Amino acid sequence: MMTMRDRIQTKRDEYVTRAISNGNRNIAMKAKGATIIDIEGKEWIDFAAGIGILNVGHSHPKVVAAIKSQVDKFIHPGFNVMMYENYIKLAEKLSTLIPVSYKAGVGLFNTGAEAVENAVKMARKYTKRNGVVSFTRGFHGRTNLTMGMTSKVNPYKKGFGPFAGELYQAPYPYMYRKPANLSKEAYIDSVISDFKDFFIATVSPKEVACVVMEPVQGEGGFIIPPKRFVEEVYEFCKENGILFIADEIQTGFGRTGSMFAIEQFNVEPDLMLLSKSIAAGLPLSAVAGRHEVVNAPGPGELGGTFSGSPVACEAALAVLEVIEEENLVERAETVGRKMEDKLKELQNKHAFAGDIRRLGAMVAIELVEDKESKKPNAEATTTIAQYANESGLLLLTAGIYSNVIRFLAPLVITDKELTKGFQILEEAFQQVE
Ligand SMILES: Cc1ncc(COP(=O)(O)O)c(C=O)c1O
Repeated sequence: MMTMRDRIQTKRDEYVTRAISNGNRNIAMKAKGATIIDIEGKEWIDFAAGIGILNVGHSHPKVVAAIKSQVDKFIHPGFNVMMYENYIKLAEKLSTLIPVSYKAGVGLFNTGAEAVENAVKMARKYTKRNGVVSFTRGFHGRTNLTMGMTSKVNPYKKGFGPFAGELYQAPYPYMYRKPANLSKEAYIDSVISDFKDFFIATVSPKEVACVVMEPVQGEGGFIIPPKRFVEEVYEFCKENGILFIADEIQTGFGRTGSMFAIEQFNVEPDLMLLSKSIAAGLPLSAVAGRHEVVNAPGPGELGGTFSGSPVACEAALAVLEVIEEENLVERAETVGRKMEDKLKELQNKHAFAGDIRRLGAMVAIELVEDKESKKPNAEATTTIAQYANESGLLLLTAGIYSNVIRFLAPLVITDKELTKGFQILEEAFQQVE
């Protein structure tokens, strides 16, 4: 007899585009903190958090209360039709929260890709230049413009061109895969030099409106750049009138052990892109940054029907309170350290467990055929992710070679949930041997 799960999966296969991935074939019924319960009553430890959108956890009571109270008042008059105050409150909060010394302003949108698109519009209008520079292995979204800015060909770009014009991808360091004959410092020097040459060989800096950088590359495999590289890129931007935009869509709101990752890199971005964990699961994004840049486009030149939904704004205001009240920025370091310790154990046991990378609770392990060759091991990665996703642990992969397991557990995860998740992770690693 068909189970309810099979029946729903059959309907999904019939009516839902197969292009949307189906990594876990179980069906959510209820969720709290870092645990999801499926329709068969099975518990799932969530190390994915809807791809990093739930730093405060599933259905945090404070967020649920905020959403309910807003829905009782009104749902969406359209900010450009009749304004409401929580949009403005959130804009004020974000303006003071971002780590900058200048006067800031904010525009609210729905998705990460939409924030990127609108930041590019602002940057082009402000600088009167067209060029947009992102980085190799970067990810900025799935719309036409952001696909062009994104690096990984399969599944994000192949067959979806032509892409928008004036988009360029500059080199970004990957310490684990540096040439063996170069010291760390010599490798950083070489990437900085390649970055500067790029503006001789590929595009004139005078024609570039903005450089868009993830302070830690997310989909690219949680690649943490050396501070010196980020600082040099920033200085180069300043010298050449190019806006430096930090895409903090995946790294934001406490994930990396600071409210925003860029705080750990000693630079002051001109614009910041925020989304994902901003509203604990409701669609919301923001462009926050220099007042004169966010105001470069004129009235009516930016917007969108659902942009800055009051329900999402109310959720975001609650999220910011929860992060502060529950010390989630500090908690990120504790959660991250526990994950790193577990991964180090696994690394000692398994020849295929390569590089461990971590900034706060943004943690990843790169899987290889062996530690000497460092040949990417996508097969082991799939085996581990599949086992976990059938056995009670939601686990995500990443990386340009699809050989990275990334950990984005809610920052409110309990020690009990962590221990349970680690047990399944350990079993998953054993499946490869
Ligand atoms: C760094 C970064 N930028 C942009 C995006 C696109 O966000 P969205 O999927 O909400 O459009 C993502 C999504 O994963 C991201 O990680």
